[in-house]
Amino acid sequence: MKNLSIDPERLWDDLMETAKIGGTPKGGICRLTLTELDREVRDWFKTRATALGCTVTVDDMGNMFARSAGQRADIPPIGMGSHLDTQPTGGKFDGTLGVLAALEALRTLREAGYETFAPIEVINWTNEEGARFAPAMIASGVFAGVFTHDWAAARADRSGETFGAALEKIGYRGPEPCGQHKLSAFFELHIEQGPYLEAEGKDIGVVTGVQAMRWYEVTVTGQDTHAGTTPMPRRHDALLAAARLVQVVNAAACKHPGAVGTVGLLEVKPGAPNVVPGEVFFMIDMRDPDPAVLDNMENAIAATADKIAAELGVAIAIKNIWSQPPQPFDADCIAAVREAARVSDFTTRDMISGAGHDAAYVARVAPSAMIFVPCKDGISHNEAEYSSKEQCAAGAQVLLQAVLDYDRRLAERYGR
Ligand code: GLV
Ligand code: MN
Ligand code: MN
Repeated sequence: MKNLSIDPERLWDDLMETAKIGGTPKGGICRLTLTELDREVRDWFKTRATALGCTVTVDDMGNMFARSAGQRADIPPIGMGSHLDTQPTGGKFDGTLGVLAALEALRTLREAGYETFAPIEVINWTNEEGARFAPAMIASGVFAGVFTHDWAAARADRSGETFGAALEKIGYRGPEPCGQHKLSAFFELHIEQGPYLEAEGKDIGVVTGVQAMRWYEVTVTGQDTHAGTTPMPRRHDALLAAARLVQVVNAAACKHPGAVGTVGLLEVKPGAPNVVPGEVFFMIDMRDPDPAVLDNMENAIAATADKIAAELGVAIAIKNIWSQPPQPFDADCIAAVREAARVSDFTTRDMISGAGHDAAYVARVAPSAMIFVPCKDGISHNEAEYSSKEQCAAGAQVLLQAVLDYDRRLAERYGR
């Protein structure tokens, strides 16, 4: 079925309109999860979905489900969506494209009077980014039974405010227990966030899975003391130890082709120019498709940390707070994406996602797959992040066709 076409202009207008909510002077978005700005974009989404005739429900992790009825109310919906929260210096497309393209796909169906077999839902997952509350993908993790609701609700941001309190404050704690919402399948459109599609001139990434990832909290405890009077040999400088460890993380990743290791958050206490730092907190993000590589990196970092601690007379505590195994996607969902790209004459490339996505958790409880579109220079988590109107539209078109393809498969399975 090729004749249903999403409207590229309408999708682009929605992207540009919502980009104003938390828009930054450099053209990006700062819309951290569960802030007033997040509430504002959620209100926007709810209003638009309701105007389309959807029923919007919210679970007790703040995940939003905008449902459009199908022929069969007894069959769980096919979900499509992503997230509306961003990084502190996020772009206009990471997450937002997946939600707004899903909305556009649904609008296209409703305008055409197309009645699907299963209900269709547009989903906005809470706190995909993990920029405010670590780890990433908390709410889809609870949805998939990986985290408990209470553990997730108690996660605190760097100011001490908990996820649960922030969710209450913006009025988006819904009545439905997270995880009770059944889905027949889930499709997520996203920008690639890496360089391969653009470099190879491909239109669409058929995502076959998501690589393994781990996060660690590291606390280095030394001794704060006077910077002018404490001789160098008498110091226990927590930042010096942390600096050496940052290099160790980098070196551990560089040893394995394809592996990545990052320290993206670091806090120094007490934080005065004339005090030798007594405490440093930082986080490590490590990823590779093979968990054995991550084991290897973890062991190398732990062994060197012991040496650094002994040399500098500091204590180093490393705590693994998140361990996500590699997640393959569902063969039927991948086939639906591939077929959707084929009927629209788009060129494709299979790929494993380097970034984390809610679909990786949802895949544990419902057949799932993802669609990638190229982004300029492979840049993301950056205000300059960019995908063109045509690239966004191509992704939305494939999303629509993949959902329709899967809906037909469901109809055959249930014997319409
Ligand atoms: C999510 O943005 C991630 O890949 O960390
Ligand atoms: Mn994202
Ligand atoms: Mn992101």
